[in-house]
Amino acid sequence: MKAERYPLPRHSDERGTLTAVEGERDVPFPIRRIYYIYEVDAGAHRGYHAHKTLKQLLICVHGSCRLLLDNGLERQVVRLSDPAEGLYIGEPIWREMFDFSPGAVLLALVSAPYDPSDYIRDYGEFLEYIRREQEGVE
Ligand code: TYD
Repeated sequence: MKAERYPLPRHSDERGTLTAVEGERDVPFPIRRIYYIYEVDAGAHRGYHAHKTLKQLLICVHGSCRLLLDNGLERQVVRLSDPAEGLYIGEPIWREMFDFSPGAVLLALVSAPYDPSDYIRDYGEFLEYIRREQEGVE
């Protein structure tokens, strides 16, 4: 599974903690856009898509949430709860986000402007896309 936890720097002193993330240094892509998800109801599920080319670092900067990750071969559920840890997703991975704690904020640092044509929103299509990609490299 090519989704990796990325430890991020913590600059802590008696005033609190600061975490900085630089594109092409702390993450292996230039950061071209950010977005954040918040005010999510406890029972809500989001996502249900994969990206063809977009690279992302997801950071739960407040509270916690869970992500189901599926690369077409294996599935795993990860919990994000540390503002000094990102989850890097650098290849097409189907993801669902859920179990947001009250007030949770999920920040995404991503490699490209918003482009609906980069989304795969149908799970069957995602599996087909992965299969075609694998055939392409073999
Ligand atoms: P959506 O893709 O449904 O969110 P999730 O990541 O939870 O699946 O996005 C919700 C709405 O926000 C949808 O109308 C598209 C819009 N949107 C933008 O306008 N720009 C963006 O960068 C993103 C990520 C979403």
